[in-house]
Amino acid sequence: MFDINRVATAAGRQVYRLMANICVCARFRPLNSREDGEAICITRSDSQSFSIKDEKDKQYTFTFDRVFYEDSEQADVYEHVGRPIVRDAVNSINGTIITYGQTGAGKTYTMEGGNILEADNRKKGLLPRVVDELFSAINICGETTAYEIKLSMVEIYMERVRDLFDLSKDNIQIKEHKGNGILLSGVTEILILDGEEALTNLCRGISNRAVGETQMNAESSRSHCIYIFTVQKQVTNEKRVSSGKLVLVDLAGSEKVDMTGAKGQVLEEAKSINTSLSALGKVITALKSKSPHIPYRDSKLTRVLEDALGGGSQTALLCCCSPSLSSSSESVSILRFGASAKHIKASSRVSIKEDIDRKLDISTVKDLKLQKILKKLREKLDAETLDVILEEFVMDGLLSDPTTSMISSHEAIITSQTISSWKEATQRLVNTILELKREINVLKEDNQVTKEECKIMRQVRKRVKAKLRQANLHTVLALGFAVLATTCLSFLILSL
Ligand SMILES: Nc1ncnc2c1ncn2[C@@H]1O[C@H](COP(=O)(O)OP(=O)(O)OP(=O)(O)O)[C@@H](O)[C@H]1O
Ligand SMILES: [Mg+2]
Repeated sequence: MFDINRVATAAGRQVYRLMANICVCARFRPLNSREDGEAICITRSDSQSFSIKDEKDKQYTFTFDRVFYEDSEQADVYEHVGRPIVRDAVNSINGTIITYGQTGAGKTYTMEGGNILEADNRKKGLLPRVVDELFSAINICGETTAYEIKLSMVEIYMERVRDLFDLSKDNIQIKEHKGNGILLSGVTEILILDGEEALTNLCRGISNRAVGETQMNAESSRSHCIYIFTVQKQVTNEKRVSSGKLVLVDLAGSEKVDMTGAKGQVLEEAKSINTSLSALGKVITALKSKSPHIPYRDSKLTRVLEDALGGGSQTALLCCCSPSLSSSSESVSILRFGASAKHIKASSRVSIKEDIDRKLDISTVKDLKLQKILKKLREKLDAETLDVILEEFVMDGLLSDPTTSMISSHEAIITSQTISSWKEATQRLVNTILELKREINVLKEDNQVTKEECKIMRQVRKRVKAKLRQANLHTVLALGFAVLATTCLSFLILSL
């Protein structure tokens, strides 16, 4: 499924890049009470293709990785979109799932379900299923591997990133780390010990999210919500720690303000939502056309999604739509966005981090003043922030790359992994060849037997023919003798 594309190093980390296209799916919710009795605008072809008619009777055909129709189950969506990405996260491959679509199209329903603590299994959304699978996957690993799962929740509301676990952090800065990708500086990370604790915290975060009533949706999300699960993995007795980030993004819906009847604050929110979604559209277009400049910095949303779209994550995009004819032109534009995103090849990171203390050997820094500064920083800052600072020092030439000495060991890991996989493949080939040889020998033996049989048959035929010939001669002689005897006897009788 993946190609290993590039191996990059950064402060304390080794980054593998796995290339794969963004997985794009479409989901149609059932008609709601507002649309009751309306015509349906989609015609199903199969589980990947369908056609849709707009109000002017123009028909469009779309093909995606998967289409979930009105009768699809939440569990189906999880199986195809959620499960593969959760498994990757447990194996330290970053993954992102984004729900995108018109307001009221079912993005939040797909993500959360009826509500996050939903007891009805049929309605359970992606989030609680992700939590279940994460904890069951790490429990299977037993005592040989230690896992740590942390959860963060932010929303992007009116172009500000707000911490949903600590409302005092209402303008979180987005930073980029060469090895770790996009980081939310100072965001609250809650250590989660089990599924129940995860759901309780998710419930608390969701209750802090901006939600408002519009004509299209009684509980319309007025912000983009981002759920971040960080899965850190350490194999017992190994120094190496690897981590995978699983990011779920429930976008606010695009809306035609005349349809939603937005006024005042709701109108301002709608403008901000539409602006950030059109910035997202521009990023997708630039990525699709392989433009040298991708405008990630045009909005907070595109900056936060930079990893998911441009490299650093296995990404799935779920385009949510209403099946009603009155929403068909909106649905077509959502689906066209999805079709563009399908062309984008995203790469995902697998990051492996050495023991931080061993890595950042401050005593090797020659400049004593710098050494003191670094020591003070280590006392005051967390390892992640120190990583960012050190990397900037390296880029500014104040410090030589502390990871250089470790590169060879990381490369050795990759090389030995590659060699062992090649060895396995070669062994499999040798086994296949031996098997084939054995089969050829059996066939040859069979062939030999057939040859022998033919020879015997030929000999038998020859003998039979000879016997027949002999038998014929005897018969002719006997007949001749009989005729002669009869003739002599006749003459004798006549002469008498
Ligand atoms: N597949 C579905 N099955 C049943 N009900 C659904 C489905 N999808 C959505 N709904 C219902 O439709 C309504 C709107 O859904 P939802 O709030 O998820 O929309 P949204 O896309 O998140 O909209 P917004 O952008 O305004 O936040 C909700 O009442 C939800 O329960
Ligand atoms: Mg919503």
